[in-house]
Amino acid sequence: MTTPWWRHAVVYQVYIRSFADSNNDGTGDIDGLRSKLGYLNELGTDAIWINPWYRSPLHDGGYDVADYRAIEPRYGTVEQAAALIEEAHDHDIKVIVDLVPNHTSSEHAWFQEAINSPIGHPSRKRYHIRPGKGENGELPPTDWLSVFGGPAWDRLPDGEWFLHLFDHTQPDLDWTNPEVIEEFQSIFRFWLDRGVDGFRVDVAHGNAKDMTFPDLGEKQGELLEGAKFADHPFWDRDEVHDIIRGWRKVLDSYPGDRMMVAEAWVPDSGRLALYLRPDEYQQSFNFSFLEAEWDAAQMTEIISTACAAAADVGSAPTWVLSNHDVVRHATRYGLPAGTNWRRWLLDGPHDILDADLGLRRARAATLLMLSLPGSAYLYQGEELGLPEVYDLPVGVLDDPVWEQSNHTMKGRDGCRVPIPWEPEGPAFGFGTDTPWLPMPEWFGPLSAEAQAGDPASTLSFYRTAIAARREHLTNDESIEFLDAPDQVVALRRGSGVECWLNLNDHAIDLPTCEILCASAETPLGDGRSLGPNEAALIRR
Ligand code: GLC
Repeated sequence: MTTPWWRHAVVYQVYIRSFADSNNDGTGDIDGLRSKLGYLNELGTDAIWINPWYRSPLHDGGYDVADYRAIEPRYGTVEQAAALIEEAHDHDIKVIVDLVPNHTSSEHAWFQEAINSPIGHPSRKRYHIRPGKGENGELPPTDWLSVFGGPAWDRLPDGEWFLHLFDHTQPDLDWTNPEVIEEFQSIFRFWLDRGVDGFRVDVAHGNAKDMTFPDLGEKQGELLEGAKFADHPFWDRDEVHDIIRGWRKVLDSYPGDRMMVAEAWVPDSGRLALYLRPDEYQQSFNFSFLEAEWDAAQMTEIISTACAAAADVGSAPTWVLSNHDVVRHATRYGLPAGTNWRRWLLDGPHDILDADLGLRRARAATLLMLSLPGSAYLYQGEELGLPEVYDLPVGVLDDPVWEQSNHTMKGRDGCRVPIPWEPEGPAFGFGTDTPWLPMPEWFGPLSAEAQAGDPASTLSFYRTAIAARREHLTNDESIEFLDAPDQVVALRRGSGVECWLNLNDHAIDLPTCEILCASAETPLGDGRSLGPNEAALIRR
């Protein structure tokens, strides 16, 4: 029996709006993505995960879906999507689409019907639409806060309130309603019928709400945090698992290795494992690796815990260092330990950033990630070493976080700036017109074309590292940690290939070995030492 592809895949995340613009309207699109499949193949991509591409007013970058069976016209059509899926398969690339079941857009036909119907109408029962508290219902039904800031309830003109855990244009669906359950199973089928190989399920820990609607009071917690205690009224409730099992049945009724990966922010690996039971998700993102400090003991602990937790439930671990919601890792690693990078974007001071150090560490951490068992999720542009564009003027910000947080959080636009493909031109080959977010002047030398022929570039490093992973590291899932000096992570995989990461600010000696791949821009001399903030794949 062959191992399912997702157990060891390199998955490349495509933020389609910012990837490649084929019709020069400033927004990336499906045909732009199609034109880059050769590039993705050359990189060593096994699968792409495409952020939501459905019809959407794009108030939250497409996580506000107006029609799950239509493609946003700025991106293309359902026919173009089907052609993309087919062509990706011709390139041996699997396709994962992003499904958003926690909420719809307020422009979705269901929500429009609900708010245009009288109180008590059945169409209102697809959402959490409720009377308020107080004498005249003038107070929201609970004190819950939205992840993006401000209250999680908005009042309708007729006096009732609707719940939105995210933006106010993203009303939450009521998953106790059988109509909602049926509709999503049908949406799964719609995309499976068009050949997709998997789903990344958005806010997988959020669908079930405590239907008694208790206040959170003191337990409110930090925004964007997810559940931090048991029986939370909307995060990680036990009822979500029944919903997941229904999806899994649909998935399993299709031939081939189709999969679902959960975006679940849950308190610990024990709770996470519940999502990975044999009749639930195949995989879940593991964000603790992304959140780890530059510390060998912490990284080792996180890796071994994640590997053991996945093995316990027969799943394979997943690794991610960057995505469309976090500050790019080339920038995070250049900030002093303990910096709250989400807040640093707005609060600064920006001169504490050491960008060279950030990139050096980012390449080293990437090599460690690629050496691990399980699948690795890459975010578009990290293979170019793109840093966060942290100084976008506030006037161009598009992320709803900026408005919802009352201008206290800058949001996630800095990692969503379009990709530079060519060293010159107004949009560096992304398209020819003004891109939807401005691209900084210094993007030119970081473009794919500028890096392609340079053996020291980050792009060349990613290509070499992914090729080495394919050759030496995907045949089995075993991992063994080796004795190593202080602040060094050293591990050996089943093939005998080892990964060494030096987190010190001084060089360390390596055992006598052959170097298969190194993170440093300049190749190592005699193969006997590993510089500070560098990693290498070696064979003794
Ligand atoms: C997820 C997505 C994020 C989106 C949110 C609401 O966390 O990754 O981009 O804003 O869900 O759908």
